[in-house]
Amino acid sequence: MKGENDGKTTAVYPGSFDPVTNGHLDIIRRAANVFGRLIVAVGANAAKTPLFSVAERVELLRSVTRDLPNVEIDHFDGLLVDYARSKGAKVIIKGLRAVSDFEYELQMASINHRLDDRIETFFMMTSPKYSFLSSSIIREVARLNGSIAGLVPEEVETALRAKFSAGGSSPERSRLPSQSGPR
Ligand code: PNS
Repeated sequence: MKGENDGKTTAVYPGSFDPVTNGHLDIIRRAANVFGRLIVAVGANAAKTPLFSVAERVELLRSVTRDLPNVEIDHFDGLLVDYARSKGAKVIIKGLRAVSDFEYELQMASINHRLDDRIETFFMMTSPKYSFLSSSIIREVARLNGSIAGLVPEEVETALRAKFSAGGSSPERSRLPSQSGPR
């Protein structure tokens, strides 16, 4: 049953998801095929200032994963390993796009292993068609009114358009000229 760990292997897929892209969704779908219970967890990356609030990111993730019964959406503060342990998860899922991701992810996996060696980090290669994709690239293209069709779910496209439309209150938006209409 959703929300319970009834003998299924639980994995946590953490990230900023600011916003969720089709690259993330690809990892979510494939991981949900492997693990009995997948928790997609929005966490705080100290190095980033988010565009979407945690509540907005959670809502978008819920919307785009509603057809996946063994996927739960959550958010967490504090250490990832503490959160994973509190959920009964032994596995952390990370997506790797390119060699450039490797060094940072190796560092994260190593410190997380040192913090709790009962929790393993599993890496999944992002599908090549999304290997260039990142939330920051999506935010930048959307901010400049470029096409992000096919790169993010429709709900995300709509949310980005709303964020960057005139009259909003996000920090990014207030620095921008107003943008009109569809791309
Ligand atoms: O999508 P991102 O920005 O690469 O996600 C990074 C995230 C949120 C997974 C990472 O910053 C994280 O795990 N934050 C929680 C704090 C933590 O446990 N950090 C690792 C030990 S320093």
